[in-house]
Amino acid sequence: MKKYIFGLTVCFISISACNYDIGEKLYPKATTCDTTNVTFKNTIQPILANNCVSCHSTGFTQGGVNLDSYTNVAIWAKNGKLYGSMAHNGTASPMPKGGNKLDDCTIQKVKKWVDNGYPNN
Ligand code: HEC
Repeated sequence: MKKYIFGLTVCFISISACNYDIGEKLYPKATTCDTTNVTFKNTIQPILANNCVSCHSTGFTQGGVNLDSYTNVAIWAKNGKLYGSMAHNGTASPMPKGGNKLDDCTIQKVKKWVDNGYPNN
């Protein structure tokens, strides 16, 4: 019985070690998202222009949400719905409406900007 448990333990350790190695290869440092130089002009505005402004502009203001200028975006940054809608975290209607969730790095950049106090930079 003792031998059996010992064998099982060794087996278990080697399996988890293996899984760990494979994991490293399959997902090599998935955390390389650079959020150091996030600005409104160079980061946030292009993200919104590419994914959101088609439905959220002065001419076509879906849901009463206008994301075409800093002043208008700041409203939604402040109430948490800009990030919440992109993160699909249940705090706002998931966006982009009818489309795929944006990639994690893009969403992290938005979060960083909002957490920084959504500066007009
Ligand atoms: C295809 C059109 C469309 C696109 C693209 C789109 N939205 Fe929306 N959005 C809507 C509509 C319609 C509503 C109002 C109805 C609803 O909440 O689902 C809305 C509502 C919202 C709201 C308010 C949600 C709430 O819970 O009060 C926010 C914030 C928002 N959108 C942000 C975004 C952001 C950020 C993007 C880009 C990542 C985006 N939207 C892309 C159509 C769109």
